[in-house]
Amino acid sequence: MTEQTRIPQPASAVARAGMTLDQYQAACEQARRDPETYWRGVGERLDWIKPFTRIKDVSFDRADFRIRWFEDGVLNAAANCLDRHQAERGEQVAVIWEGDDPDQSRTLTYRELHAETCRMANALKDMGAGRGDRVTIYLPMIPEAAVAMLACARIGAIHSVVFAGFSPDSLAGRIEDCGSRFLITADEGRRGGKRIPLKANVDAALEKAPVDKVLLVRCTGADVPLAEGRDIVWNDIRERLSDDCPPEPMGAEDPLFILYTSGSTGKPKGVLHTTGGYLAWASWTHERVFDYRPGEIYWCTADVGWVTGHSYIVYGPLANGATTLMFEGVPNWPDHSRFWRVIDKHQVRIFYTAPTAIRALMREGEAPVKAASRASLRLLGTVGEPINPEAWLWYWRVVGDERCPVVDTWWQTETGGVLISPICGATPMKPGSATRPLPGVFPAIVDEAGKPKEGPAEGPLCLVDSWPGQMRTVWGDHQRFLDTYFSTFPGKYFTGDGARRDADGDYWITGRIDDVLNVSGHRLGTAEIESALVGHPAVAEAAVVGYPHDIKGQGVWCYVTLKQGETPSDELKKALVNEVRNEISPIAAPDVIQWAPGLPKTRSGKIMRRILRKIAEGEFGSLGDTSTLADPAVVDDLIRNRPG
Ligand code: WT7
Repeated sequence: MTEQTRIPQPASAVARAGMTLDQYQAACEQARRDPETYWRGVGERLDWIKPFTRIKDVSFDRADFRIRWFEDGVLNAAANCLDRHQAERGEQVAVIWEGDDPDQSRTLTYRELHAETCRMANALKDMGAGRGDRVTIYLPMIPEAAVAMLACARIGAIHSVVFAGFSPDSLAGRIEDCGSRFLITADEGRRGGKRIPLKANVDAALEKAPVDKVLLVRCTGADVPLAEGRDIVWNDIRERLSDDCPPEPMGAEDPLFILYTSGSTGKPKGVLHTTGGYLAWASWTHERVFDYRPGEIYWCTADVGWVTGHSYIVYGPLANGATTLMFEGVPNWPDHSRFWRVIDKHQVRIFYTAPTAIRALMREGEAPVKAASRASLRLLGTVGEPINPEAWLWYWRVVGDERCPVVDTWWQTETGGVLISPICGATPMKPGSATRPLPGVFPAIVDEAGKPKEGPAEGPLCLVDSWPGQMRTVWGDHQRFLDTYFSTFPGKYFTGDGARRDADGDYWITGRIDDVLNVSGHRLGTAEIESALVGHPAVAEAAVVGYPHDIKGQGVWCYVTLKQGETPSDELKKALVNEVRNEISPIAAPDVIQWAPGLPKTRSGKIMRRILRKIAEGEFGSLGDTSTLADPAVVDDLIRNRPG
């Protein structure tokens, strides 16, 4: 694919565009020239209990660091997602739930979602939760997940959603880190015809990190043990709870949620988002990027355990009064047509998924796609990792029949919402490029000294100024926030990604340049996986790197040094894979384990990951400078015994 491959927006998308290319350029210009007016417009999308008068107060300088948006405004996020729609669209469907089982679906209108949220908010209050308390949510993809998030927001509690695929240990670590005394979970989850023992995981986690109260949602009806005095069954109390619960007035900068994400070192970080800026950005980007119009059915296939689910299943769409589809299942069950059948069944107009899913479905050929009409579709989106041009073109040609624009949206847990993406109906598309920054977003590709490069360039991707959806701190560790994002290039936010900007000014994200892996769109820290491996009694040392993988984007390659007296075996390999699955999650499971009698280290003992990455990639010719190695023979051994 060359950079000349430019695909114009389809005429139908241009004709209905809510923001034309000229308007996009004008908005970029206004954001530069008159940021106050531009950002006021973004903030005024929301319903404020007390309107803001201050707009932006930001400094990325270490000396007087601060990020504050709409600071003196008072609002409630749940009221913005529910109450303000009651008069106009109380009977409109807010959430369509499509079960794992294709015969199961459910809808909730805005009136019903409001009532459910108030009931759960009252349940939380009865449990003793209130303003500022942390509530951990460990739920499958059922409407109650959205209800739980909104119920927390309604009473001013801070939710911390933990992906239901995480292990008891990971869950315990997250409960402990934010000092959560309340947890909302389900008996079991369902995915691809299988059951996931959520309550059993919770019980195991709570042995390490106890909480005061557990609210249990019955999902499959499985018989699970209840702890007297601690566990409360939502379904048993629901009817008795009032469907009225006044929204707590929250300051714009009061926390809305914590979401844990992996970094290059240490344990996952609790990314903190606040109320006003986050919600305004989620809402504005949802409308602009997808050109969302009232009445349209919108489907984002992410899980609410990730930021994509927070911003583009729950907060963005609901703040905009949209109909959002929540899918409990997987793309390949009961067969490979599932996505496309769901689109026909619910008349989905906008479809947002991940490159890894597109690549996996592409492998099955066109027939499963053509088994459904997809006539309702008008827009396709992708997120989570770089999309290779082949997958982009397949999505555009086969799924969208060359009539649906494709928006490749680049963003991060930390950014709260999309920062770089084509605007539907406006920006010319290029397969593999996320194209342009949204108005008000100022990316820079910097040199080693942190100086922005001009024109076509490649290098670390930074943002030189703030946007309302920016994370505000790492929960409990503000220093780590500053060190991680603002110290590599002082005065700028460093994304951890590398990027290239072409002659047209379009951005191509090349991937992480830190020790973070992106496996099937899931972010994993190499340090976390290494620590899980070293947790096994036979392991002396481990080093983990990513390598190119056809479907997952990146695979997990582990170099493992055993302790004296331990012998390598296939059983031991299996045990190590299980160790990682149990410590972290099946999503982090090693793809390759290579026994390493020694690891390439500098004389000062630092592991040279660059070399390990090259060996995993099979690129032995370009190992670079190995003269600083303490023992160069180690490298020859790793090359000679490389599996595959
Ligand atoms: C990392 C953030 C954004 C929500 C889901 C992932 C990669 C994300 C793209 C894209 C290329 C992308 C980046 C980023 N990434 N979207 N469109 N093109 N790379 O959120 O878990 O915080 O991961 O995902 O490397 O830094 P996350």
